[in-house]
Amino acid sequence: MTDRYAVIGNPVVHSKSPWIHAEFARQTGQDMEYGRIEVPVEGFEAAVAAFRAAGGRGLNVTLPFKERAYRLASDLSERARAAAAVNTLMFSVDGTSGDNTDGVGLVRDLRQNLGFALQGRRVLLAGAGGAAQGVVQPLIAAGVARLVIANRTAERARSLAGRFAGLRGCGFGELADERFELVINATSAGLSGHSPELPAGILDAGGVAYDMVYGRDTPFLAQARALGARACDGLGMLVEQAAESFFIWRGVRPQTAPVLQVLRAA
Ligand code: ATR
Repeated sequence: MTDRYAVIGNPVVHSKSPWIHAEFARQTGQDMEYGRIEVPVEGFEAAVAAFRAAGGRGLNVTLPFKERAYRLASDLSERARAAAAVNTLMFSVDGTSGDNTDGVGLVRDLRQNLGFALQGRRVLLAGAGGAAQGVVQPLIAAGVARLVIANRTAERARSLAGRFAGLRGCGFGELADERFELVINATSAGLSGHSPELPAGILDAGGVAYDMVYGRDTPFLAQARALGARACDGLGMLVEQAAESFFIWRGVRPQTAPVLQVLRAA
């Protein structure tokens, strides 16, 4: 019987995950199908249970349910624990295991697709919501020399940073003269056509500006490009986190480069 997977969220109509996983399955010869499940906010847990009861093998969880998936899982990976959020559920006779592949997706996109090794680098993470929370531990594990979390609401940045040893959290206005080799925008500002109000000169000449948002040129990226920085969107992160989920479920690592290439060309 064909194994069934899906992305669950609200909304999921525009999700590229079904296409990405279909490509991975084709490439690796896996007998599986991958759909999308849009559920009303109150219906998440019941929908997961129904999918599982009908023989579903695993789910990708997207907004706004990652924290509820974290609470629902009976077994959590280290990465899920550090993120306090789950984007990948796997069902077995033993229960429901939860993992988080977002952070490793970001790190792999930076390292493998963009050629940016994180080891020893000075990194600024802008944002302190769910998207930022999911990537802190993997950035630390990648060996960054310094990681600062800055957020519009400074208190949220301080609280997130406080969960990890040696991290500083602050407001955008408190960054003073610090400069970074990589600035990651994990705020949702770009979705409403805004940019986080970072001080000018925050990025080294020749540095990398990375926006987790994809599918649009955000003001953050446009500004960075105008200043001569390398501007990268989050499409590679999307594909890499999908590949890691695929690996968790199927034990096979798909090639991401050809998939990313097709998405970029589209
Ligand atoms: P997500 O899960 O996408 O991170 P979230 O938890 O609602 O969503 O967090 C949104 C993040 O984007 C927050 O860091 C938010 O800043 P605040 O904590 O100050 O609200 C940030 N954000 C949203 N719009 C922004 C804007 N116009 N400028 C700067 N930061 C913004």
